[in-house]
Amino acid sequence: METGANPNPMLPKFLRVVKRHRELPDTWTLDFDPVGGFPFLPGQFNMMYAFGIGEVPVSISGDPARPETLVHTIRAVGKVTEALCAAGPGTEVGIRGPYGTAWPVVEAEGGDLLIIAGGIGLAPIRPALYHIFANRSKYGRVSILIGGRSPEVLLYPAEVRQWRGRFDVEVEVTVDTSNQAWRGNVGVVTSLVRRASFDPAVTTAFVCGPEVMFRYATIELTKAGISPNRTFVSMERNMKCAIGLCGHCQYGPDFVCKDGPVFAFDKIERLFRIREV
Ligand SMILES: Cc1cc2nc3c(=O)[nH]c(=O)nc-3n(C[C@H](O)[C@H](O)[C@H](O)COP(=O)(O)OP(=O)(O)OC[C@H]3O[C@@H](n4cnc5c(N)ncnc54)[C@H](O)[C@@H]3O)c2cc1C
Ligand code: FES
Repeated sequence: METGANPNPMLPKFLRVVKRHRELPDTWTLDFDPVGGFPFLPGQFNMMYAFGIGEVPVSISGDPARPETLVHTIRAVGKVTEALCAAGPGTEVGIRGPYGTAWPVVEAEGGDLLIIAGGIGLAPIRPALYHIFANRSKYGRVSILIGGRSPEVLLYPAEVRQWRGRFDVEVEVTVDTSNQAWRGNVGVVTSLVRRASFDPAVTTAFVCGPEVMFRYATIELTKAGISPNRTFVSMERNMKCAIGLCGHCQYGPDFVCKDGPVFAFDKIERLFRIREV
């Protein structure tokens, strides 16, 4: 169920959760079925409001070709995300958006793709993967490198197994720390870059994960010859308005909510390296 017209961009629409699915002990996926659908571009996010608690930015993690279902995967890290993760079917959640820039899936056509996702970072990048799979013939080689802290906390395991079964994409998964049952790679996700097959001159890279991960990822990608203007990262900052008014998400001259969250790395590289020091 949802309320009617929504002329004020700061006013959320109230949508009821139709399905809640546990991904990991602290991570849940919520599905909504907004009347008229919810068109969005891969990489965009919504502001999600838990009644009486607060509002936070969360990326859309469903299929952009299926706007009839709005999907969010949320990791409970604090009071708002905990309340959202606890929202069972029938619970109303305030949603406004979609906001922000997108992964440049169209601009990347004709070349190779290298996608690096760490931890919960697979959720914001999954819509781009759906788009790429649906338009597979428009790209050259596609490599997807996925990392997690340990096998138990890898996101979307069943889906990742399906992707690994495809013959037209290379999918590599690694964990920082293995367990006895794990037969896969061990080590940080950035160590997989050297093994992936791509032509750096025509490759676009998408990187999504914790900032510490993309710090190393961008170093590896630059070493591999992928130009910073063809490397795209999704930034996370605290947000309040999400429409470029309050300044909460300011990153140098940019606002992450409106100029990002997806940035070409050359645009933010200087600031990023200064903050690194
Ligand atoms: C564009 C964007 C997209 C996002 N997409 C997702 C998503 O798809 N799924 C998801 O689970 N989360 C996502 N996040 C992160 C989510 O917004 C934060 O986890 C949330 O704001 C935390 O709020 P809280 O009240 O639950 O916790 P708080 O009490 O505010 O914080 C709890 C802990 O989380 C840390 N934290 C707070 N906000 C952030 C943040 N923005 N990034 C990193 N750490 C943070 C705090 O430092 C603290 O350690 C996204 C953030 C942005 C900016
Ligand atoms: S959140 Fe207000 S300017 Fe970005």
